[in-house]
Amino acid sequence: MPDCLLVRWIRVSNFEFPGTFRAVWTGRFEQPTAALLRTYSESVSFDWRMYRQDIAGSIAHAGALRAAGLITPEELQAIADGLRGIEADIEAGRFEWKQELEDLHMNIEAELTRRIGAPGAKLHTARSRNDQVALDLRLYLRDEIAAIQELVRRLQRALVELGARHPQAPMPGYTHLQRAQPVLFAHHLLAYVEMLERDHGRLTDTLRRLDVLPLGSGAIAGSTIVLDRASVARALGFSAVSQNSMDAVCDRDFAVEFLGAAALCGVHLSRLSEDVILWASSEFRFLRLSDAFTTGSSLMPQKKNPDVAELTRGKSGRLIGNLTTLLTTLKGLPMTYNRDLQEDKEAIFDSVDTLKAALAVFAAMLDEASADEASMRAAASDPLLLATDLADDLVLRGVPFRQAHEIVGKLVGLAARKSVPLNELPLADFQAASPVLGEEVHSLFDLTRSLAARRGIGAPSPENVAARIEHWRGALADR
Ligand code: ARG
Repeated sequence: MPDCLLVRWIRVSNFEFPGTFRAVWTGRFEQPTAALLRTYSESVSFDWRMYRQDIAGSIAHAGALRAAGLITPEELQAIADGLRGIEADIEAGRFEWKQELEDLHMNIEAELTRRIGAPGAKLHTARSRNDQVALDLRLYLRDEIAAIQELVRRLQRALVELGARHPQAPMPGYTHLQRAQPVLFAHHLLAYVEMLERDHGRLTDTLRRLDVLPLGSGAIAGSTIVLDRASVARALGFSAVSQNSMDAVCDRDFAVEFLGAAALCGVHLSRLSEDVILWASSEFRFLRLSDAFTTGSSLMPQKKNPDVAELTRGKSGRLIGNLTTLLTTLKGLPMTYNRDLQEDKEAIFDSVDTLKAALAVFAAMLDEASADEASMRAAASDPLLLATDLADDLVLRGVPFRQAHEIVGKLVGLAARKSVPLNELPLADFQAASPVLGEEVHSLFDLTRSLAARRGIGAPSPENVAARIEHWRGALADR
């Protein structure tokens, strides 16, 4: 059953399976759980999606039980086969999740025991849902972070290739959203490639600290039954084992780090969105988006709206919100596990889904986008963009920069009062402002020359930008 249908089914059916199933912890209880509490406390409607990780963790745990002589080889086999059968059924949409069993851990364990009997009932030896859920989350995020990193690469490639389709196109660079100095369109796009590279790095950092096995910490204090945690870690691909059982069951730092990295990546996507929205407007006309990635208006027939970028800008709010949600959940928690921690999951799942969707759709949109080079060049040909070039020229003629700035400022003011473009002021005006200026002053106002001169490391000369495009093509080729 597809995810959305399953979730809908769970909500609609409200999990009424009277009398058939009960939670594993009811031994000391005399009254059944209130229906209201069951619905309030269940998490299976969302945590079921970690079933692969839960099953992998249980198989590794069963291996440790076997190594400690707590189950027979046959029992281990029955547990592993049983769990794989359950996994296949979940994947085929044949598994019936039961709300009265609260969460995915108890659903899977109960079904295993129903299928294979006694060996299933031994599986939870020396384990608690507290270390189990901490493990599942780490395994889940390990998988999803790898998938997100792939999508970050995908978007980086789309940005590089959009730049490469317009390698020489100049555009105005903006500060305060006012035209500032000329850059290349590709240089502007490559700025986002750098941001995404840092996002990728932050996810790698998160993976590094996530790479610790919490299983074996039990509910809070390990277990009187001692298992070989190091070999469980190896079986599950962790390079370290947690060293404090209390920390391990309530540590969600790795999840905060993930949500932080996701929120910042979302902020980068939101800033890119804002650029795309501006560029696609009739006022800018820098970027053409394909029909496939724009939407129309139900009322105004002429509209072609950049909804992908607007939605992405909007969804970045959810990514920030999810980080805030988890930090707030953790803030006042006494040691160690508290049920509040169940609230971590929906925030994490939502950030995973939101970020993956945004990265994928943005990359696909940019694949089909193209720049309007003529509009960008017209905007970049505003001579005021080269006012700093004129000040630099004065500096090269021996004028201290502060004075040069003042001189050019006066010339800009004069041009404004005379209503002529700066480069069309007569030579007499330039020379009145500074006697060191000569005939050649007019030839300074040349966009191509200005861009070519910006050849320091990190600056947008066409040569530099072409080299960066090649750098990124190589760096992103097989990563
Ligand atoms: N569903 C729970 C969670 O997400 C699993 C751990 C429950 N532990 C407990 N002692 N009730 O946190």
